Amino acid sequence: MAEAMVFLGKDTSIIKPPKKSSRLLYRTIVLLFAVMCGLYICSICIRQISYQSKTRFQNIQIIEGPCCNGNMEESNISSMHYPRPQTFSRLECSHNPVRFFTIISMQRSGSGWFETLLNSHVNVSSNGEIFFVRDRRKNISSIIQTLDRVYNLDWFSSASKNECSAAVGFKWMLNQGLMEHHKEILEYLNRRRVSVVFLFRRNLLRRMVSVLANSYDRYAKLLNGIHKSHVHSPEEADTLSSYKPTINSTSLIDDLKEVEATVAKALAFYNTTRHIVLYYEDLIKDRTKLKDVQEFLYLPVMELTSRQVKIHRGPVSDLISNWDKVTLALSGTVYESFLHDDD
Ligand SMILES: *[C@@H]1O[C@H](CO)[C@@H](O)[C@H](O)[C@H]1NC(C)=O
Ligand SMILES: *[C@@H]1O[C@H](CO)[C@@H](O)[C@H](O)[C@H]1NC(C)=O
Ligand SMILES: *[C@@H]1O[C@H](CO)[C@@H](O)[C@H](O)[C@H]1NC(C)=O
Ligand SMILES: *[C@@H]1O[C@H](CO)[C@@H](O)[C@H](O)[C@H]1NC(C)=O
Ligand SMILES: *[C@@H]1O[C@H](CO)[C@@H](O)[C@H](O)[C@H]1NC(C)=O
Repeated sequence: MAEAMVFLGKDTSIIKPPKKSSRLLYRTIVLLFAVMCGLYICSICIRQISYQSKTRFQNIQIIEGPCCNGNMEESNISSMHYPRPQTFSRLECSHNPVRFFTIISMQRSGSGWFETLLNSHVNVSSNGEIFFVRDRRKNISSIIQTLDRVYNLDWFSSASKNECSAAVGFKWMLNQGLMEHHKEILEYLNRRRVSVVFLFRRNLLRRMVSVLANSYDRYAKLLNGIHKSHVHSPEEADTLSSYKPTINSTSLIDDLKEVEATVAKALAFYNTTRHIVLYYEDLIKDRTKLKDVQEFLYLPVMELTSRQVKIHRGPVSDLISNWDKVTLALSGTVYESFLHDDD
């Protein structure tokens, strides 16, 4: 009311002689103005409430309109989510937006290590390889049900930081339904604005060494009778890398081609998602790539750490028992560089 009076100050000076009748007129004007202001404010409130309930009804998770984020690009706003988990309350963090992501990768491509790095961020919940369990990827409905639970923050794993998560996701291997159900999954990822982090390996020969050694260890259990896919000390790494696999040099070229083709296919299937493509080798060499990832996920940039130790270090020639045959098979082919890559 006081504000309305101040606003009317100019008009009051026009109404000069404060006769009784004009004073009544003046009061009526003020009253009418106040009522109009009130109605206007109410109409804004109602519009906002109906907008919120409409978005909730459509299960679109953007609750705040562009009003409050004027200077953000559109994709930035639309990838903001405000999940309402059924199993807990986000408390004071319920106003923090959450971004959805998935790490699309292949076995033995550094995604385990990459995920521990991401999870060292106080606001990231990357829930592991959830589709490792076959039932969850049995058909597209079970896949979507699982995804909904993850992105609604109702998925619990040791990585869950539920209240103050700013980015939630998991890692997903190409052979876990992504290729078979690519149409439906693509539709889901775009509809729910899930950002995709592709993580692949450049040197597919090294990856092959890791695959063979890991599958050998599944039976041999070199570390005190326990099978380990990832290790936390150089000693453990040395023990695991003491096994040198033999690579089938006859099928080697075809095997490499097949992996390459699978990666290319996946990139083509999901190329309309909002995505970033990372290579394990680049992450190892250049830690600023981790900053790019955090920016891609709109996270406050932090120093990320992992306790995991690389298992197969040193020249690739030291890691393969039939090195001569492998050299012969790859020399003069497009894969020759894999032989000379010593990291
Ligand atoms: C996207 O949003 C975040 C906050 O959620 C902000 O820090 C960042 O600058 C925005 N990026 C762009 C490109 O607008
Ligand atoms: C998918 O699998 C679940 C069991 O895991 C089953 O209940 C459901 O009927 C299946 N849906 C379709 C469409 O096949
Ligand atoms: C990150 O987590 C901290 C601590 O849990 C919280 O205070 C902060 O608001 C979170 N930041 C974002 C961007 O969600
Ligand atoms: C190597 O691959 C070839 C071609 O696929 C196959 O015929 C052969 O049995 C394989 N050798 C071994 C030792 O697995
Ligand atoms: C995505 O891949 C398809 C198939 O390879 C191609 O036709 C299309 O142009 C690509 N789209 C973008 C945005 O790259």
